[in-house]
Amino acid sequence: HPHILSLADFTPEDYNTVLQTAASFSDVLSRPTKKAKKLPTLQGRVVTHLFFEPSTRTRSSFELAAKRLSADTLNFSPGSSSLSKGETILDTAKTYLAMGSDIMVIRHKESGVPQAIAAELDRLNANVSVLNAGDGQHEHPSQGLLDLFTLCFLLDPQGPRLELLSGKKIAIVGDIVHSRVARSNLWSLTATECEVHLAAPPTLLPQYFAQYVSSESQERPGKVLVHWSVEPALQDADFVMTLRLQKERMTQHLLPSAREYHHRFGITRDRLKLCKPGVKVLHPGPVNRGVEISSDLMDDPEFSLISQQVSSGVAVRMALLYLMGGGK
Ligand code: CP
Repeated sequence: HPHILSLADFTPEDYNTVLQTAASFSDVLSRPTKKAKKLPTLQGRVVTHLFFEPSTRTRSSFELAAKRLSADTLNFSPGSSSLSKGETILDTAKTYLAMGSDIMVIRHKESGVPQAIAAELDRLNANVSVLNAGDGQHEHPSQGLLDLFTLCFLLDPQGPRLELLSGKKIAIVGDIVHSRVARSNLWSLTATECEVHLAAPPTLLPQYFAQYVSSESQERPGKVLVHWSVEPALQDADFVMTLRLQKERMTQHLLPSAREYHHRFGITRDRLKLCKPGVKVLHPGPVNRGVEISSDLMDDPEFSLISQQVSSGVAVRMALLYLMGGGK
């Protein structure tokens, strides 16, 4: 019963196993979707979604993935739960353990909560896998994996694999300091020989973070470069990942206004002219339209991979549940 709490400990083989397994479920990527065939892999198993923080994409795609694998699913909403009567997070997890949960998919606004629950369940010798669905500013492993899948599947739908990103230039632009998506993507992207260029105003990409990123990635094949303007990051980029300004996490910073941010860092058609021809744009969602990306660009299928990311999320989450549930 392995947990998936971070991509820091993923090996290239782990990435490729997830990519290949997700590719085998890629019929969910076709529009209109074919009548879905259910696999019996998780029949009789219980997948519990403990989302202590709001979500649209992650929660629904995990639920659909679990149902496609024939699991029983439990959903928990903090507002209507006994948390409001003072029950603790750990007691909440133990309650769902007592109902027979086999996999717990956990999101929380504080970094470290899925890890704390996993440690407590391990201490109890519970046969439960914990999957981090986003913890504070720390990590969002399944988003990192679905972004990786989206890129590799675009490059080779027959054989998506990590090595396809070697030599590619990928710009990550936006609220990097608050972004668990950026942290998970940094682990996966630097596992291959690509160049990752981070760009943001210094309030959203402080010097200490730049030093931390450089030292963490020293032993890895990929390079990480940091910019406090967007143009050098976009120059000749193959892919651009934009990130949401996370106002709910911004208390301690002097922030640019949305208009100022868009003026200096927003991804627009004009700015994309700096990139390689055929450049594609990603955004994990939800999007502040007209802030981190112009509204028309977001909807333009020539550039935008945003819908593909959402569809990839179902295939990748099926792969994760399948592999954690003992699928071969
Ligand atoms: N990308 C992402 O995690 O979206 P949700 O918050 O809607 O799950």
